[in-house]
Amino acid sequence: MSRAVRAAACALLLALAALPATAALRSVGAVVDSRPSGDGLELRLSSGARVRLGFATPDTVRVRMSPTGSFGPDTSYAIAGAPPSVRAIVASKDGVTELRSSTGVRVLVRRAPAFAISVIDSGGRLVVGDDPARPMAFNPADGAIETSMRRDDYELYYGFGEKTFPLSRHQQSMVMWNADVPDYPVGHDPSYQAIPFFIALHEGRSYGLFFNNTWRSWFDMGKTVPRRYSFGASGGELDYYVFTGGAARSPARVLQDYTALTGRGALPPLWALGYHQSRWSYMSQEQVLDVAQEFRKRRIPADALYLDIDHMDGFRVFTWNAGTFPDPKKMLDQLHGQGFRAVTIVDPGIKRDEGFPIYRSGRAGGHYVRKADGGELHEKVWPGVCAFPDFTSPAARAWFGGLYREPLALGVDGFWNDMNEPGVFPPDGFSQPEIGLGPQRTFPLDARHAGDGRPGTHAQYHNVYGMQMARASFEGLRSLRPDKRPMVLTRAGFAGVQRYAAVWTGDNSPTWSHLALTIPMLTNLSVSGVPFVGADVGGFMGSPSAELHTRWLQAAALTPYFRTHSNDVSAPREPWAFGAAHEAINRDTIALRYQLLPYLYTLFEAGERTGLPPMRPLWFDYPGDTRASLVDDQYLVGGDLLVAPVVHEGRTSREVYFPKGSAWIDWWTGARHEGGRSAKIAAPLARLPLFIRAGASVPTVAAPVQHSGEMKDQPLALVVAAGAAGSSRVYQDAGDGYAYRDGESRTITATQDGQSLRLDIPSQRGYQRLGAIEFIGLAAAPAAVRIDGKPAHGARFDAAARRLRIVLADENLKEVVLVP
Ligand code: GLC
Repeated sequence: MSRAVRAAACALLLALAALPATAALRSVGAVVDSRPSGDGLELRLSSGARVRLGFATPDTVRVRMSPTGSFGPDTSYAIAGAPPSVRAIVASKDGVTELRSSTGVRVLVRRAPAFAISVIDSGGRLVVGDDPARPMAFNPADGAIETSMRRDDYELYYGFGEKTFPLSRHQQSMVMWNADVPDYPVGHDPSYQAIPFFIALHEGRSYGLFFNNTWRSWFDMGKTVPRRYSFGASGGELDYYVFTGGAARSPARVLQDYTALTGRGALPPLWALGYHQSRWSYMSQEQVLDVAQEFRKRRIPADALYLDIDHMDGFRVFTWNAGTFPDPKKMLDQLHGQGFRAVTIVDPGIKRDEGFPIYRSGRAGGHYVRKADGGELHEKVWPGVCAFPDFTSPAARAWFGGLYREPLALGVDGFWNDMNEPGVFPPDGFSQPEIGLGPQRTFPLDARHAGDGRPGTHAQYHNVYGMQMARASFEGLRSLRPDKRPMVLTRAGFAGVQRYAAVWTGDNSPTWSHLALTIPMLTNLSVSGVPFVGADVGGFMGSPSAELHTRWLQAAALTPYFRTHSNDVSAPREPWAFGAAHEAINRDTIALRYQLLPYLYTLFEAGERTGLPPMRPLWFDYPGDTRASLVDDQYLVGGDLLVAPVVHEGRTSREVYFPKGSAWIDWWTGARHEGGRSAKIAAPLARLPLFIRAGASVPTVAAPVQHSGEMKDQPLALVVAAGAAGSSRVYQDAGDGYAYRDGESRTITATQDGQSLRLDIPSQRGYQRLGAIEFIGLAAAPAAVRIDGKPAHGARFDAAARRLRIVLADENLKEVVLVP
């Protein structure tokens, strides 16, 4: 079937999927009575529904509506720990009931003709208000629920997890239903990973909204009616949080509050931030070792190799193919000897095979998902007919987590959870377009799950299946190997998945439009609370041209998760596979990643504490800059680097927009660009346009390394972007394990005021030492350089790059002054 026909078929399915069940919707009606309950207010409505209003934190409102009038237990897979609540003050005046938090955030309740609320920030501004023209409603027959808010024409929306839509999701409608969608066309929905959370941006101010509902849900962000947005689900409670963003109303504050609720990405081991090479599949242990050898021989840095499904015995998880991988321990030892880690794939489907001990042990433990009639659920995936662990059962999670014991004992370092939407194969003889089938190709909706003590159907728990699989893996690894940080990669997820795994964007295609799509996809995942994200470099579903692959590698080089992967029919895609000229460029691209690893690592550590993602869309740091709000072909790495990859064929230059409020220094030429303007930037094939914010200090590795394990032996070079005041930090620890949580780490701070750089270097040793300082963006060489008042030796100015490099004899310094 042609692509056009497939696209049309899927557009139709999409339209059907997006239609809310409006037919028999019934308004919740007027408020009949209200009374204080817990920390907030409970309202009885004329329809019989009940609403609970309260505050999760003084700046975060929570709204719950139960169509039946009785609320279920207050548990949530998305939320880390118990749902929080803080006391609110209730007041009633002139027929309006008001709920007020300690910071002055207010919820105004309109009682009639139908219940509606408005959320007002502490400055008295409307954050979000229900649309009285379409009140909160439910369908008593099928359990569907929905609500609608008024929207301003210019309000933009970001987040929603993994979507293939443009950067802002205004005037889009979206379905939250994890789906296996290989070769997804741009604009196809739903996708692998549903996160019912978004950040709104309007006139520089933000708020966030999280719809805490695991059922199939939908958002219509002004598509049907531009002055309103709506969201709803096919079941469950209408339970949502409004993050007002406090007094700052900034996107950063909203995301900090959202991740305080749903959890923050755990600091990965350093090696997980290196370059990873994968394909479906490296077919034998010799081939794996050859690839490893080739990387080292060609001096192309890399940290991990991946073993896809063919390493197993007939695709039975946690086994090895004895013919092609006769001695995995030896292979893994050899890989480790060369500084490589190995990651193996672990799918949820467990082959239904009486001779397979893992299948038998899962059955004996009662760990599999059941059909409505109570029998074991069977679906076909790679190994043929399979049973599937019920990851919503604590016992099944513990059992599955324990299965990692053997691969860990052999030396496998990381694990890759795939097909966990869950995706299953179509029935035999099925000939419909595969892509359109994505959302349906899963378990029957009436299959039964344990739901951690709240038994329910697959319709209720589908969206958390993948996340709970990642949880089983993460928790298993934590308990089996408590001294190491788990590295888990997952394809499917839900709100809170960041607590357990990195996420990649599934089976993308080797096209320029898919390359361009990686930036809106990954930045929106990032602002959905998921920091460790990446896309298969080169596009999974085939073979990119040499130019596309080289540009893709550049575009991905500073994305949080950096892996090249391809399918079983793709041409070889190792960095050397495209000829000598491309190999040289690819080597430099990967080397740039390694040079900046100390900076990326610092960002991940900060992210674990703050929830701020390493990869950011421009608007996230510059919400007041309206031009930044729709820039979809550039991204920020932390606050200090701006990346503007070439995502179009044949281009050797591109327009770059520099966000307003900062000045930016070209990484390669040292040229300064003022914010609030665009400039045409040269981008020959060998160059990734990259800029550092004036005032920032970014740590780099001073000399090339072949893998992250070599970093500790190399000094740091601190790249200081001159021309503005600013302060930066450099975080260092052992790169793995948890000693850092007991204080085994150090943080260097660097503060500059234009002419001088002050350094605060803690005295603990054993970390990469500071070996050089590079001032970049200097108009001319300084007349002299002084370190702690004395003339510095070993300073060299490179006029072409406007870079002054000062090599340091030791770390005992406090201040560097450039004398003009
Ligand atoms: C799925 C995954 C892909 C993997 C393949 C075989 O398509 O998305 O990454 O290579 O399965 O395991």
